[in-house]
Amino acid sequence: MTESWTVLKVLRWTTDYLAGKGISSPRLDAELLIGSALTKDRVGLYLCYDQPLEPAELTQIRRLVARRANREPLQYILGHTEFWSLPFKVVPGVLIPRADTEILVEEVERLLEQSLPAADDLILDVGTGSGAIAIAIAHTFKQRWPTMQVDAIDVSDEALTLARHNAEQNQVAGQIRFHQCDMAQLNQIDAAKPYRMIVSNPPYITTAEMTELMPEVLDHEPHLALEAGDDGLQCYRLLCAQALSALQPSGWLVVEVGATQAEEVQTMMEQAGLEQTFQRQDYSGIARVVGGRSPVAAPKL
Ligand SMILES: C[S@@+](CC[C@H](N)C(=O)[O-])C[C@H]1O[C@@H](n2cnc3c(N)ncnc32)[C@H](O)[C@@H]1O
Repeated sequence: MTESWTVLKVLRWTTDYLAGKGISSPRLDAELLIGSALTKDRVGLYLCYDQPLEPAELTQIRRLVARRANREPLQYILGHTEFWSLPFKVVPGVLIPRADTEILVEEVERLLEQSLPAADDLILDVGTGSGAIAIAIAHTFKQRWPTMQVDAIDVSDEALTLARHNAEQNQVAGQIRFHQCDMAQLNQIDAAKPYRMIVSNPPYITTAEMTELMPEVLDHEPHLALEAGDDGLQCYRLLCAQALSALQPSGWLVVEVGATQAEEVQTMMEQAGLEQTFQRQDYSGIARVVGGRSPVAAPKL
């Protein structure tokens, strides 16, 4: 390329190229990719539209654009995202936290606000992935509940390594203990007492639905984080089966569910003996969160 390849010219070319590859927000993605290659934010990029690009800069832009054209998620290419207004590192092999999951954190916050936990109460995040939920909760309650302890489990080593990094980056490493553990065996977590709350955004996509996912998800995100058997409900079965033994009296189980799963998961919770079950809709009116509470302890005679 010659000096005629200015930032603006590359931006226009990249936008058209990504649009041709079926990317739904080609201009924004082009800006973020070029900005990343040039270590500039979007405003910084606008301010240097006429700047000619060096060959090394063009090479780096080409590399990033080729990855996006291959439908790799933008967040994996940039290496970071935001969740609950906090910065998160993301790496291929670990699910990218979704804005939808903030509804689950809002619900956790609402329930904990109703009666702030006792000093030694514990929270459990099942399938922590990047650590998004555990870190958002710890960050929100760190000041008001300085002794708070969140246990965060995942079967994936890669996820736990990333989650530990994100906890440090967000200054909540002291509030979270990470364990490698299968959600089928919550009794193997070395917890001092039953949990005040168990929260989870588990895998919930059915085997049939997997084939319909966007290439960004199907070809690049870990299937371990997504797929949950023929009916997508296998993780909820595991969590409901263990809820009464893992929760303290009046403790909450709160989970994110797929778009059509709320009724079945609520029924499952009721059949498992949970009370005060509820659903919470997201901002598009889809029931996204289901919760239930373990019964209060029988009074001692
Ligand atoms: C949908 S992702 C959620 C990640 C993160 N909590 C979030 O909301 O962004 C589900 C997570 O559960 C983990 N997982 C899958 N099967 C598991 C199992 N049997 N036991 C524990 N974790 C599991 C996956 O590795 C993945 O990190």
